[in-house]
Amino acid sequence: MARPRVFVSRVIPQPGIELLRRECDVEVNEQDKPLSKKELIARLQGREGLVCLLTDHVDDEVLSVPGLKAVSNVAVGYDNIDAAAATRRGVLVTNTPGVLTETTADFAWTLMLCAARRVVEGDRMTRAGKYRGWGIMMLLGQDVHNKTLGLVGLGRIGQAVAQRAKGFGMRVLYSDVRQAPAEVEQALGARYVLLADLLKESDFVSVHTPLTEKTRHLIGEKEFALMKPTAVLVNTSRGPVVDEKALVAALRSRRIAAAGLDVYENEPELAPGLAGLDNAVLAPHIASASVETRTRMATMAAENMSAALHGRRPPNLVNPQAWKGGVAA
Ligand code: DGY
Repeated sequence: MARPRVFVSRVIPQPGIELLRRECDVEVNEQDKPLSKKELIARLQGREGLVCLLTDHVDDEVLSVPGLKAVSNVAVGYDNIDAAAATRRGVLVTNTPGVLTETTADFAWTLMLCAARRVVEGDRMTRAGKYRGWGIMMLLGQDVHNKTLGLVGLGRIGQAVAQRAKGFGMRVLYSDVRQAPAEVEQALGARYVLLADLLKESDFVSVHTPLTEKTRHLIGEKEFALMKPTAVLVNTSRGPVVDEKALVAALRSRRIAAAGLDVYENEPELAPGLAGLDNAVLAPHIASASVETRTRMATMAAENMSAALHGRRPPNLVNPQAWKGGVAA
């Protein structure tokens, strides 16, 4: 049987490529920047598999490349792929859940602590030679311990963030489309509340929901109006879940105290005014960026692709309706 041909849209950790090469013919775009849609479609010709990143917009046109059978996203979020169109076309779509949970939770905490305790402002001040001696009123922030943490979404990552809150003696509230099982709530000490109540009561609001049409702009002007003026917002999920223009206004007017962001509405662009705000900690979408986790994501994506193109059900299939017991529907 001829080896299936796979295109990898961008550089990924080498162990992922090596694993793919065991069972497939692999071509990699060696440039570490996203291809335009036209380039992507051109490079995909004659290939059955696409291993892509969240910077690739895999829409119906890309999915219509003749012979394409599987798309393996090297990310847990797959809002960059039109999964409904893939299902219609019988193209299998996979993602990389689980392996980045703890690393992303670590980073949500990094942002929370940095934003609350004004670490980046302090760093900038110190480097600029503006630290001229200890001052009792200097860079006063918010305590984190013993406060209330509100999690918007209690999936895998939300739960891992809640777990860490125990060490800080925090009260944990969460909102979600459905209530978690009692044993999960009990283990995490987390209480299910309406989003409006979560926003009113929380000192820290951390967003952990996937981007869907329902969650786009879930947090906007109305929601900021409910939050405490001392509150800190953290977003490590997807940028468009937060209305970034409304966030800039809320931070500028001190409607809320601070934000720690890893994701943006129109990455890599920032909403006008965001970069100039001292009370925003801005990271370049690196919540899962540890060597171990990114390597595991790459090998997981490779395993998904190899399985899909060899008639084995991929372990992380997001559109099972496209699976008809063989390569694709
Ligand atoms: C994901 O996997 O969805 C993250 O945003 C990148 O690791």
